Amino acid sequence: MVQGAANWNTEQTQEWLQNYVDDWVSFYRKQTDEGEVASYIPILQEANPDHLGISIIGKDGMKVRSGDTEIPFTIQSISKVLSFIVACMEKGLAYMLDRVDVEPTGEAFNSIMHLEMRKVQKPFNPLINAGAITVTSTLEGNTSDEKLKPILDLMETILGYRPALNVEVYESERDSSMRNRAIGYYLLETGFLESDLNITLETYFKQCSIEVTVDDLAKIGVVLANDGEDPKTGEELIPRKITRLAKALMLTCGMYDASGKFAAYVGIPAKSGVSGGIVALAPPRVRDEDLPFINGCGIGVYGPALDDKGNSYAGIKLLRHIAKQWDLSIF
Ligand code: DON
Repeated sequence: MVQGAANWNTEQTQEWLQNYVDDWVSFYRKQTDEGEVASYIPILQEANPDHLGISIIGKDGMKVRSGDTEIPFTIQSISKVLSFIVACMEKGLAYMLDRVDVEPTGEAFNSIMHLEMRKVQKPFNPLINAGAITVTSTLEGNTSDEKLKPILDLMETILGYRPALNVEVYESERDSSMRNRAIGYYLLETGFLESDLNITLETYFKQCSIEVTVDDLAKIGVVLANDGEDPKTGEELIPRKITRLAKALMLTCGMYDASGKFAAYVGIPAKSGVSGGIVALAPPRVRDEDLPFINGCGIGVYGPALDDKGNSYAGIKLLRHIAKQWDLSIF
C-alpha cells in the first residue's frame, strides 16, 4: 500500500487505486469459467458468464469502478435485505422479530426441510426464502404493487431514480416457482403468512425482479455502512437500529450456506443474489495506518457465473482479494 497517503480522495491516489482494481478485475475475470449461471429460473441462463464488474463508493464520495459496470441485472435475493428493512420501518422491530428469527440455517436458501424437521416457531431468518416470504407477507398494502411501493420508494431515495422491474425475469420466475410455492403453502398451513399467498408470492417475485447495476448496490451499501444515514447529507434514511440488525443478518446469513466462510475469509457484511449480484459494505475502520476507504464504503459486484452455493464465483474471489489488500475485515 502507498505509505503516507493521508487523503486518499485525490486524483493521484484515485488513479492509483483504479489501476489496481482494473488489474484485479482482469485477473479474476479469467476465473469466471469455473462458475455457472443460474438456470432454475430459465431467463437467468441468458446472462453472459464472462461478465465481472465492481463499484466501490466511499463515505466521502470517492468512487472506484471497474469491469462490466453498466450491465443491468435483477436484484434477486439482495431485495430480502430491503424488504426486511421496510417491514421493520412499517411495523417496528419487535413485531418483525416475533415473526422471523435471526439465526443462520447452514441450509440452502430455498430449503424447506429444516422448517418441518426442526418444528420451528418462526422461519430462521429473513434472508432465506421462508423468512423472506413471511416478511413480504407483512408488508402493508392489498396488492403486490402496493406492497412493493415502499421498497421502490426507499430505493428511489437512495439511488436518486426509481428502479424498474424486469418483466421478463418476473414472468420467468413466476412461471418456474414451484419451490417457492411449496414454501408458501407450508407457511400458509403453519400460520406464518399475514397476507394472501398469491399476492405475497407475486410481491416476492416482483421484488426479486427489480433491475439494478453495481453502482446502485454500492450506493445501498454505503448507506448501510453509514448506519442508515445518507453519506452526503447526514439525513436518516433508515433508522440506525434497523440498519444494524440488517448488517448483522447480512454477516451471518447473507451468503447462503457459505456465510461462515465469507465472514471468516472476507469479514464484511454482504448479501448475494442468484443473478450474480453482491452488495457488501465496510464500516469505518479505526486504524493507525493509511487505508483506502477508511471511513467506510459500499461495494456492488456483478458476476453471473455462480459457485455451487449460488454466490458469484469470481465476485467472491475479487471481494476477498480487495478485503485483504485494503484490510476491510471488521474482525
Ligand atoms: O427465490 C428465488 O428463487 C429467487 N428469486 C431469489 C433467489 C436468490 O437470489 C437466492 N437467495 N437467497
